[in-house]
Amino acid sequence: MAHLIDGKTLAAEYKAKAAAAAAALREKGVAPRLAVIIVGENPASKTYVAGKARDCAECGILSDVLALPETTGEAELLSRIAALNADAAVHGVLVQLPLPAHIDESRVIRAIAPEKDVDGFTPVNVGRMVLGEPCFLPCTPAGCIEMLRSTGQPLEGKDAVVVGRSNIVGKPMALLLTARNATVTLCHSRTENLREKCAAADILVAAVGKAGFITADMVKPGAVVIDVGINRGADGKLCGDVDFAAASEKAAYITPVPGGVGLMTRAMLMQNTVRAARLQSGL
Ligand code: GUN
Repeated sequence: MAHLIDGKTLAAEYKAKAAAAAAALREKGVAPRLAVIIVGENPASKTYVAGKARDCAECGILSDVLALPETTGEAELLSRIAALNADAAVHGVLVQLPLPAHIDESRVIRAIAPEKDVDGFTPVNVGRMVLGEPCFLPCTPAGCIEMLRSTGQPLEGKDAVVVGRSNIVGKPMALLLTARNATVTLCHSRTENLREKCAAADILVAAVGKAGFITADMVKPGAVVIDVGINRGADGKLCGDVDFAAASEKAAYITPVPGGVGLMTRAMLMQNTVRAARLQSGL
């Protein structure tokens, strides 16, 4: 039976560190502040944004949620971002994705000042990450790396398989694992022999977005399994991409959903925001 990688406990530790760092900054006259923009009524996005605001309150970080209507034009959104970029009291600017179809997501992300890009989504931060330079790491893969670190299992020389090649999870996850000397295979919807590739992985990261996609026969005995998925199962309950009950019979370590990666994503955002405030204030 696998050990559970407990996102709740781990996220609480990282948030406590962010809270201590935020308090130290406040003592020096800097109040860390995050601005979150959400466009439209996507229910999942609204839940995520509410969670981020709650975390900020818990960590002593000021937060402003700018909820804009679905009909907001791209020019209006860009001008809001420009105003936040120019506001010295705001240290982090985050635009919740996805955006409505009439808005060009990549143009919007590019508009965020790299020093306020606490999601690590701008081309400048992505480029720095690829080069291994100091940057804001995207929160979900950064959280996954911390969860792997918490197991005490080495990454160096291990075979890691990442399933899903999104810009915000799969691609950066592959880079971060490579930087830690794992040998990475980045799989996706066109991958041949996916089952065999997964079944050979010492570290398996599932970021597919399909409930129960990773079945027990795709898990190597003794593997570390990180489940990034947040889906609704047929029973209406939250579940990941991994068939948790069956996979936990084979894995050595596994993350639950809920109570796993999602909480760590939010904790990493708090860390990035405090770091942005520190860097911008020159402390
Ligand atoms: N949508 C899903 N995940 C994320 C995230 O980490 N950041 C933003 N901005 N939008 C998202």
